[in-house]
Amino acid sequence: MKKKALVTAGPTRENIDPIRFISNRSSGKMGYAIAKALGLKGAHVKLISGPVELGPPSSVELTIVETAEEMAEAVFKEFNWADVIVMAAAVSDYKPASVSSRKIKKEENNIDIRFERTQDILLEMGRRKRADQILVGFALETEELIKNATKKLREKNLDIVIANSEKAQSSDMADIWIIDRKGSRELNKMSKEKLGEIIANKILNYNKFSE
Ligand code: CTP
Repeated sequence: MKKKALVTAGPTRENIDPIRFISNRSSGKMGYAIAKALGLKGAHVKLISGPVELGPPSSVELTIVETAEEMAEAVFKEFNWADVIVMAAAVSDYKPASVSSRKIKKEENNIDIRFERTQDILLEMGRRKRADQILVGFALETEELIKNATKKLREKNLDIVIANSEKAQSSDMADIWIIDRKGSRELNKMSKEKLGEIIANKILNYNKFSE
């Protein structure tokens, strides 16, 4: 039977006022490459993406969202449908505590913007996960990469973590570590297209009951 894959990609944008937002440097390339490769290998793919400058990969169903809240809503709508979930999106951890309905005008003084936490979508999926579902998360670390990523694997109840450093964010190439409960595999200086294929193979051949 066709595997059903839910993939997220790209950044989220959190509005400050009608003109401004905070976001991050995620290009969406890694998530799009994984979605494309899963589709080419025969999976039914639904891709939920933040705003990116990429065309939709052929043979995937694409939904565009903007904020972390919209991302969460779109993901939870499809969560039960999916056999595998790949959370490659760079979801903002914080959003402005209030959104001004009018443009914030400049004044003489400095201003402070208060930020509040967004929901950790991956953590919630780890809690809801069925025994037959495979949950894949990403970890972007600037230090103690393997140690921190392995901690995320356990704390968020993931099956696989793809760890990378901040250098991979906006580039076409990346060094990544694929980590599961049995160990880690390092992949150096590969194109995101190629990494997408390797990650898709790993996910589609993953047998979580062989431990
Ligand atoms: N993620 C999520 N919801 C959020 C923030 C992140 O689902 N609100 C997911 C990302 O899609 C990614 C994973 O969490 O798969 C890792 O995000 P990262 O920012 O590296 O780590 P955090 O868990 O947020 O922890 P920390 O900031 O402490 O590194």
